[in-house]
Amino acid sequence: MSSSRNKVTASAPGKVIIIGEHFVVHGSYAVAAAIDKRATVTVSKENAPESVILSQGQKEALLDDHGKFSAARSVARRIFEEFGQPDGSISLEIDSEIPLGSGLGSSAAVSVATTAALAKFLGHDLTNEKIAEISAIGEMSVHGNPSGIDTAASLYGGMILFSRKTGAKPIPLNRAFQLLVVYSGQARSTSELVAKVNKKRTEFPSTFAHLSDASSFASLELVDALTSGDLPYLGALMNLGQASLSWAGASTEDLDHLIEDLLSDESCFGAKLTGAGGGGSIIALPKPDRVEVLLKRISAKYDFSFISSIPQHGLRCE
Ligand code: PMV
Repeated sequence: MSSSRNKVTASAPGKVIIIGEHFVVHGSYAVAAAIDKRATVTVSKENAPESVILSQGQKEALLDDHGKFSAARSVARRIFEEFGQPDGSISLEIDSEIPLGSGLGSSAAVSVATTAALAKFLGHDLTNEKIAEISAIGEMSVHGNPSGIDTAASLYGGMILFSRKTGAKPIPLNRAFQLLVVYSGQARSTSELVAKVNKKRTEFPSTFAHLSDASSFASLELVDALTSGDLPYLGALMNLGQASLSWAGASTEDLDHLIEDLLSDESCFGAKLTGAGGGGSIIALPKPDRVEVLLKRISAKYDFSFISSIPQHGLRCE
């Protein structure tokens, strides 16, 4: 039987979807990448009357049904059901660099890191498949019908081709590149956006089906573009993705303006919303010699803007 520990820390990256969000919920392929922002979860023994979650300067009971931190709580419940409760109280401390509701995979990163840290605390080293299965429960508590792409990108790191049917396949990168990530500052609910796009799907099933096929095609093309290092084509595919998402109702006027602005001075090969949309974040693929200038210009207006490489490390457990 495995023994428990006094303190375990795990961290996992956030993600961006390079192409195929929303359509991936309905079975298409999509491509996602880990980003240089992580969520860290530390589980420790606590000399206290009850177990707690600590995050953003707040404290709540770990299993409080009305608590704010539903992803971590749902994962904790599931882990305790499967592996039993710890002896005595614990604290689960979440320290995340990823803003909530920003479309950058905050709940997925917290779910993945919580799953690994809690299981290890209880003496269990889980397989990646098991971590994906349990962290999906955290995602489900936040947005109902997740495709699984966010947790897969966070768990494995690097860049992945994903579909519900095939799961995650790593994409080898033959040329390093950087993405500009800009959070619009407008947090939103993934489940509402998924419902909005689904409404469009039921209104226009045939068009939606064609766009889903186009999204799968573009995802596979994107893998080729990445493998051959063809950044202009990668950017053109991102722009195609944005057009489909806009038709599906995931973009907003503000995001459209931001994207137009980024494309207007030819600093970028492509730009699009990333994640559920309706606010949240956008990504752009800057020309390599324009990265710093563009970041300076954009971050004057948008506080949470950064350049991300594609980190190869997904989940890390100490
Ligand atoms: O929750 P977000 O904004 O990180 O993005 C989720 C991506 C969707 O395709 C909209 C939903 C999903 O589960 O795939």
